[in-house]
Amino acid sequence: MRSLWPLWLGLAMTLLLSEPQSINAAPHLICYYDSRGFERQGLAQFTLTDLELALQFCTHVIYGYAGINPDTFELKSLNQALDYERRHFAQITAFKDKYPYIKFLLSVGGDRDVQQEEKYIQLLEAGSQAQTRFISSARDVVRRFNFDGLDLAFQLPRNKPRKVHSDVGMAWKSFKKFFTGDFIVDPDADTHKTQMTNFVKDLSSALKVNDLLLSLTILPNVNSSWYFDAPAIADKVDFINLGTFDFLTPTRNPEEADFSAPLYEAFGQNRLAHYNVHFQMEHWLLQRVPANKLNIAIATYGRAWKLTPDSGTTGEPVVAADGPAVAGPQTKTEGLLNWAEICQLLPNPSNTNGKGAAAPIRRVPDPTKRYGSYAYRLPDEDGQYGLWVSYDDPDTAASKAQYARVKNLGGVALFDLTQDDFRGQCTGDRFPMLRAIKYRLL
Ligand SMILES: *[C@@H]1O[C@H](CO)[C@@H](O)[C@H](O)[C@H]1NC(C)=O
Repeated sequence: MRSLWPLWLGLAMTLLLSEPQSINAAPHLICYYDSRGFERQGLAQFTLTDLELALQFCTHVIYGYAGINPDTFELKSLNQALDYERRHFAQITAFKDKYPYIKFLLSVGGDRDVQQEEKYIQLLEAGSQAQTRFISSARDVVRRFNFDGLDLAFQLPRNKPRKVHSDVGMAWKSFKKFFTGDFIVDPDADTHKTQMTNFVKDLSSALKVNDLLLSLTILPNVNSSWYFDAPAIADKVDFINLGTFDFLTPTRNPEEADFSAPLYEAFGQNRLAHYNVHFQMEHWLLQRVPANKLNIAIATYGRAWKLTPDSGTTGEPVVAADGPAVAGPQTKTEGLLNWAEICQLLPNPSNTNGKGAAAPIRRVPDPTKRYGSYAYRLPDEDGQYGLWVSYDDPDTAASKAQYARVKNLGGVALFDLTQDDFRGQCTGDRFPMLRAIKYRLL
């Protein structure tokens, strides 16, 4: 008898491990669509035809972004000319006719609602009358334009970035000063967390009446421990997208270039333990939030810093940097390069002899699949054109999708469609990030 035990145990384990796979619904691929992409110019301009090509891969589309009126707390369009006059809300949800299995949600916040950002906290503090105004206005807009639900991407106070200072010419390793970033950002966070729970409960019941979905997007660097009582809100929302990217950015961390969206903690160099995908996911899982409600986010762009002659020559992070790199030719945003822009800087036949800003960048892949890729170009003799960029490419994005699958998560949220290589400028494949994730989730 005794000798059969290992066999039984093995069998039981196999059953146990295979169970979740078989009962799980198909993984989610949540596609953010930032309507700013529609208004970009030139090669970065994203059309409805481009969007339609992506839809075959998406289970949900999240329209970004609506905002909040700071005086009335009602939901409002942030671009009335586009959303209402040019009927963009309606144009997007019109795809439901052809793709009835895709859910379309309208998202509020997302760092696009820049007028008086403290209003998000004020709404939590404002009591039930003001909150009811938000809730009914949100439900009205969602219904009027035929969305399937609402996504809260509230702009709550962020973790303070760690500050580092190095003396010019001093070896980077010996920081002069160093803070852990653990100082108090919101002394009333506990109160706000309770208010957030009640708000989500009220909003959820109001939306349920009309069979509308409610999802949460936790923006990068909004600290989940402060604002979200995970067990209390988990069953009030349909899913939760964790903003697991932009842990370090050239704007927040101008002097240290490092992996901006590592899957696991990169040890050493006094990095902060919570700046990685795995930590953020575990934070929710450990509080018994069902794995299938949680989605990890993957950005379709990289973060780019400027290197200087003081940055050393190895490129190995953490690297001393001098703020955001110049904007890319297509996305025209300081410190940001989308995958198409990065791909064209990587060594290829057309840039072998490139000079200055056209010189190729050296790619450093990550065979461990734990931290993501980076690429860099040292400054030239005049100290110009130094660049260091951390990014996900289709391979590392696939590793993250694999992580989501192995952990039986709900799936992956892609930030966002309009920054993927939707024209196929890199290899001819249109939406290479989206495809890589989809194929790994299948
Ligand atoms: C929130 O911030 C604290 C202190 O900075 C940190 O210890 C904690 O891990 C953070 N929580 C999450 C979920 O990132």
